[in-house]
Amino acid sequence: MVGGGPGAFIGDVHRKAIRIDGLAVLVAGTFSRDTEKSKLFGTQLGLSEDRLYTDFETMAREEAKREDGIQFVVCVTPNVSHFAICKAFLSEGISVVCDKPLTWTIEESEELVSLTKKNDLLFGVTYTYTGYPAVKQMRQMVSSGALGKITFVNAEYPQDWLALPVDENNKLAPWRIDPKTSGISNCLGDIGSHIENMVATVTTLEIDSVLARLDSIVSGRTLDDNAAVMVEYKGGAKGLYWSSQIAFGNDNGLRIRVYGEKGGLEWKQEDPDHFSFTPCDAPQQKWSRGRDEFHESAQQYSRIPAGHPEGLYETFANIYRSFIQALGKKISGETLTTADYDFPTVEMGLRGVVFINKCVQSSKKGSVWVKF
Ligand SMILES: NC(=O)c1ccc[n+]([C@@H]2O[C@H](COP(=O)([O-])OP(=O)(O)OC[C@H]3O[C@@H](n4cnc5c(N)ncnc54)[C@H](O)[C@@H]3O)[C@@H](O)[C@H]2O)c1
Repeated sequence: MVGGGPGAFIGDVHRKAIRIDGLAVLVAGTFSRDTEKSKLFGTQLGLSEDRLYTDFETMAREEAKREDGIQFVVCVTPNVSHFAICKAFLSEGISVVCDKPLTWTIEESEELVSLTKKNDLLFGVTYTYTGYPAVKQMRQMVSSGALGKITFVNAEYPQDWLALPVDENNKLAPWRIDPKTSGISNCLGDIGSHIENMVATVTTLEIDSVLARLDSIVSGRTLDDNAAVMVEYKGGAKGLYWSSQIAFGNDNGLRIRVYGEKGGLEWKQEDPDHFSFTPCDAPQQKWSRGRDEFHESAQQYSRIPAGHPEGLYETFANIYRSFIQALGKKISGETLTTADYDFPTVEMGLRGVVFINKCVQSSKKGSVWVKF
């Protein structure tokens, strides 16, 4: 693991999620840029000292040389360093799981896509929420035609944790609102990216063009804390996305509604075990993970009976399970099928970065339509 040091947010979630299925073990790391901190932390995690590295470059090089070297690395640092870290490990022939958004620029993400292919490796991007069984079931229902041709998508991700100026004691906020560490966008990159990937996963719609308005509502901010995006998909469907960090009363309110010619779906990540399906000719149905029969492609990710809520750790674990099983097959020389790639891939990471860049471009030009 690179990143995820003491007090870090998502690295700890990754570690716990990986342990749920026990398919991989953490054996090496550079958890912080502060070597002493990193080593102390790694020792507390039970890692042996010779696999606690001063920096990610050394770690990539040394691990690649070992016979028992790591089979994949997890990159959970702020966005600024994703590209360099992923590139270092891919170049040494080591597969990667990286958190989103994948990189700052489209060119960087394209380079990671081609390095992954060239070195015949696997690359997962942790768009967390797509691991839920309910999301997989909605994806299956859309692809099997239960909604007919998709006509309109409405998705939002409101939060309120940055609605006030950032307190200097806040550990998570400063790098996100600083262009030097966050990149060209804050809110859209941090959570609008989840919307883009969720819609792409459930509907497989491809974006043709976007018209975006990114605002910095809290005064003094350079980067956006609220973003509205209109979307045109290839094939004619339309979409409307809203992401916000200033919407009082909202924690992690990711919600997606998909409408087609024969029905509609709605799902909220704060109630991830349920979604509603309304056919055009029948009353609304509430589907429940664990109680209602899901398609096998979704059911396989349900871990406990209905009414015992599954959550963030489980959805992360589902992404890891698919990734690690696929990697296991690859390492043992088996050919991977499309079904094996049931995790967000590096190509999806690239699409997310294209989305962020095109939206920023649109907003800067005065909210004009920008083609993909
Ligand atoms: N998938 C999700 O739902 C989700 C949720 C939160 C964050 N994220 C993403 O995860 C990443 C990390 O976010 P966070 O909130 O955990 O950040 P954080 O600031 O809490 O943690 C970052 C950690 O990386 C370490 N670090 C920074 N540079 C390093 C380097 N060069 N080498 C080694 N360690 C280094 C820091 O010391 C810190 O421990 C971001 O890209 C963010 O967008 C994703």
